[in-house]
Amino acid sequence: PLHSGLPAACGQPHASSRIVGGQDAREGEWPWQASIQHRGEHVCGGSLVAPQWVLTAAHCFPRRASPSEYRVRLGALHLGLSSPHALSAPLRRVLLPPDYSEDGARGDLALLQLRRPVPLSAHVRPVCLPKPGGPPAPVGAGLPLPASAASPPVPLPEWRPLQGVRVPLLDARACDRLYHAGTDVPLGERIVPPGSLCAGYPEGRKDACQGDSGGPLTCVKSGRWVLVGVVSWGKSCALPSRPGVYTNVATYSPWIQARLSLPLHRQAPGARAPSA
Ligand code: ARG
Repeated sequence: PLHSGLPAACGQPHASSRIVGGQDAREGEWPWQASIQHRGEHVCGGSLVAPQWVLTAAHCFPRRASPSEYRVRLGALHLGLSSPHALSAPLRRVLLPPDYSEDGARGDLALLQLRRPVPLSAHVRPVCLPKPGGPPAPVGAGLPLPASAASPPVPLPEWRPLQGVRVPLLDARACDRLYHAGTDVPLGERIVPPGSLCAGYPEGRKDACQGDSGGPLTCVKSGRWVLVGVVSWGKSCALPSRPGVYTNVATYSPWIQARLSLPLHRQAPGARAPSA
């Protein structure tokens, strides 16, 4: 009822939702978390939004890479270790929003259509999408909201599982002002573009980082986990006045919903359609 056209079971982890603050994830806690892998190597995070669709960041897909070079790993708590519940799904195609600009300033989102729908389980479940045309994310309430992220590729040893961290949300304007602090960029010149969201504390310390791009920023709404943002960029990681910047998913809801509800026969296999 909340999100018509989507599976009724989105946004409901198998594990009970407890507060997560920069902690190891438990089995089934973030069952929509995906690892986007290029020739077997983790390059970005992502979120399962429907059995055949994963939402991630556009900048994870350099221009001429073909969808066949990628796989999406789901149901795993570890990048390095094998996992009994993990599955690895090939891609059919990669769709980028029409306003995506290569410099990363806008539309840093990619919808990945998997070749086949994946079987859902306690370890593999979609997250909810914001209602199309609904109100923007409840920004500014100062509530810490959880983001989950695949472990960065370099510093974390492979026995460390998926990490989750709680960070407060900031709207693009407040975030833009923070990003101007300590620079001589005129305030009229946006650093954080509209269509973004930020999350982080003024003093830093908790954040996503390299390797987390494309991963989910989620919050609970009416008892379900909703995908509010997609990890996009940041100035280094966890610095004061430099919150993590996320693509605002609600801004792109109409585009996402339209792609998800296209009849299958209209979705040509293998096509990369940057402006579809
Ligand atoms: N662009 C980075 C990536 O490709 C994500 C950076 C997020 N940074 C941050 N401070 N929140 O993985």
